[in-house]
Amino acid sequence: MALFGGSKSLAGLDIGSSSIKVVQLKETGKGYRLTNLGVRPLPQEVIVDGAIMDAGVISDTLREMVKDVKLKGKDVAVSVSGHSVIIKKIKVQEMTEDELERNLPFEAEQYVPFDASEVNMDFVILGGAGGDGKMDVLLVVVKKDVINDLTTVVRDAGLNPVVVDVDAFALENMYETNYVLAPEEVVALVNVGASTTNINIIRDGISIFTRDISVGGNQFTEAIQKQLQVSFEEAEQLKKGRAAGDKGPEEVQSILGVISDNLGQEIQRSLDFFNSSNPDIQISRVALCGGGSSVPGLVQTIEQRLGTQAEIVNPLESISYNRKKFDESYIEEVGPMLGIGVGLAIRKAFDR
Ligand SMILES: Nc1ncnc2c1ncn2[C@@H]1O[C@H](COP(=O)(O)OP(=O)(O)OP(=O)(O)O)[C@@H](O)[C@H]1O
Ligand SMILES: [Mg+2]
Repeated sequence: MALFGGSKSLAGLDIGSSSIKVVQLKETGKGYRLTNLGVRPLPQEVIVDGAIMDAGVISDTLREMVKDVKLKGKDVAVSVSGHSVIIKKIKVQEMTEDELERNLPFEAEQYVPFDASEVNMDFVILGGAGGDGKMDVLLVVVKKDVINDLTTVVRDAGLNPVVVDVDAFALENMYETNYVLAPEEVVALVNVGASTTNINIIRDGISIFTRDISVGGNQFTEAIQKQLQVSFEEAEQLKKGRAAGDKGPEEVQSILGVISDNLGQEIQRSLDFFNSSNPDIQISRVALCGGGSSVPGLVQTIEQRLGTQAEIVNPLESISYNRKKFDESYIEEVGPMLGIGVGLAIRKAFDR
């Protein structure tokens, strides 16, 4: 028998390619409060193209971080993204949730390029009763080996992965917790990480398009490294507006401008693709988060290229925290990187 059953709270654990983030929130009468936070960098090449290359380094880093921040409890929510995740809106014959649960492998077969035994599937019924006897379903398919790799690394660190979510949905949860969306408003959420940028278009609390593109903050660092002949660490400093060795941040301005425009172009390509199949839907604004969104001038460049209002999302916008426990400037520095961690921390163990 569960003594404290019901809404068991989880820590959100976001294992990114450049750093691991853990976020713990407490639900209070006045909304969420931050109770724990940890961010630890990962060496390069530990995660490549979303695949775990060095599980030992990740679980060691994770174990140390959990100890350092004195994480309460062991239950965590983690998430996956990238090529091994398929999110697709499909049409199926109207049926009950139980029926769909049983029929899902057959319904999904034509959309999934993997064998049914290789994947985990889930779905959300979006609605139907359009009179044609069909309903819209959001199909989510994740390759089992990706889930296994991730949960193994988490268990090796002594934690218990209770929920496996998808980056795009965590992002959506984070956004809707922090901001109020007007009905009919269509927002393109863009999470610019180090190696991946997640795009998630939402309307009326539903994700209507998701795509992960393989670009992000690393592109800026790599361009600076190449053109100024500096190390990865020096390039990271210059990118963040700090001096490194005998170089000052003014020397990278034009590089940041060019790469920002490239990134804008990639985002535009995805939004154009969305618009080609949804010509009647107008995107109201682009909302950016992720560490990569802090690149100076990026928001303006994207706004210009897309011709759509662009703004920075603060994952902690409506989440309170104790300023004696968490340093304000630290929160400001790492805040943009907490989008997925916050979205995962909102999840409850009984969520499906
Ligand atoms: N102040 C800043 N200015 C510019 N870039 C920044 C700043 N802070 C962080 N970044 C960049 O943001 C990226 C890290 O962001 P984030 O933590 O969201 O990525 P990640 O989750 O580790 O990566 P991914 O999700 O792609 O695997 C790095 O490329 C880092 O250099
Ligand atoms: Mg990330």
